[in-house]
Amino acid sequence: MSAASRAGQIAAHLNYPSGLLQDQVAIITGSAQGIGAEVAKAFAREGAKVVISDVDAAKANAIAKEINNSGGSALAVPGDLLNDSYITTLVKAAAEFGNGKIHIIINNAGFTWDAVIHKTSDKQWDTILALHCSVPFKITRAAAPYFRVKDGEPRNIINISSTSGLHGNAGQANYAMAKAGVTGFTKTIAKEWGPAFGVRANTVAFGHIQTRLTAAKEAGAAAVLPDGTKVALGIPSAQAAAKAGGAADKAPTYPDIPLGRPGTAEEAAKAVLAVASPLFSYVSGQTISVTGGRNI
Ligand SMILES: NC(=O)c1ccc[n+]([C@@H]2O[C@H](COP(=O)([O-])OP(=O)(O)OC[C@H]3O[C@@H](n4cnc5c(N)ncnc54)[C@H](O)[C@@H]3O)[C@@H](O)[C@H]2O)c1
Repeated sequence: MSAASRAGQIAAHLNYPSGLLQDQVAIITGSAQGIGAEVAKAFAREGAKVVISDVDAAKANAIAKEINNSGGSALAVPGDLLNDSYITTLVKAAAEFGNGKIHIIINNAGFTWDAVIHKTSDKQWDTILALHCSVPFKITRAAAPYFRVKDGEPRNIINISSTSGLHGNAGQANYAMAKAGVTGFTKTIAKEWGPAFGVRANTVAFGHIQTRLTAAKEAGAAAVLPDGTKVALGIPSAQAAAKAGGAADKAPTYPDIPLGRPGTAEEAAKAVLAVASPLFSYVSGQTISVTGGRNI
């Protein structure tokens, strides 16, 4: 076979949709924008019924509408994951949407609230630990009846981590602790629910992915806590430029990333899709780094 026709075959194989997740019901938290929104779209293209869970109701509804208008199947269930009763609502709504089944949970919702250790408040600490560790635990616990089943259908839980969790990051003690925590939780799910029920659980750890979390702080994005506290998101431009290996007025070179560039949210989502797909059917309990090679 010529190289050209082999490339054609591969391209055809990669064409959407190919039904990798046909009829599977997936809860994706934090899916109103950024990586989660791309995961929802990628999963829907593969035939999944996706549940858009996000505190930003307007954006959650817009993503669900976009998916439904393009032939996919999505349900927006907006709410704040820091509110326990919303977690109950979310799992119930997902099970109803799935006619009694939930196959996939992507614990993706999150944000950063940075400070050096000696200036980190209890509130900063508790909020980030709650959102990145307690919430994935509570969703998984609430969804246990839909995962501890023997119906011969695949079940997958993917927890989203970060290079900060795997390697630490100055200024992110809370986030690093939380993102390290989910790796242990993931492995525990794999060991508890793998043997009898075939549930796969994996962690996907991102490096620098282009979303509002890594955009210029000056752009003004913010997360709003239940008590109204506003947490500014993004990275100050000067700090980002220094890390990217150049001055603010020069093109960045990203010397710490072997691929020499940040990843897109779409690329991040494709990695999550790969892990959730049957192509990874014998992979469980792992932490997969999606970093362009950073930290090798
Ligand atoms: N962007 C990166 O470089 C990067 C790197 C490593 C890890 N991550 C992780 O990837 C995940 C997605 O981040 P992103 O970059 O796409 O960010 P994003 O801000 O674009 O999207 C995160 C989504 O989570 C939602 N969310 C936040 N708090 C919530 C709450 N209490 N209840 C419900 N929804 C809530 C937000 O509204 C937002 O829509 C996060 O867990 C983040 O920590 C991102």
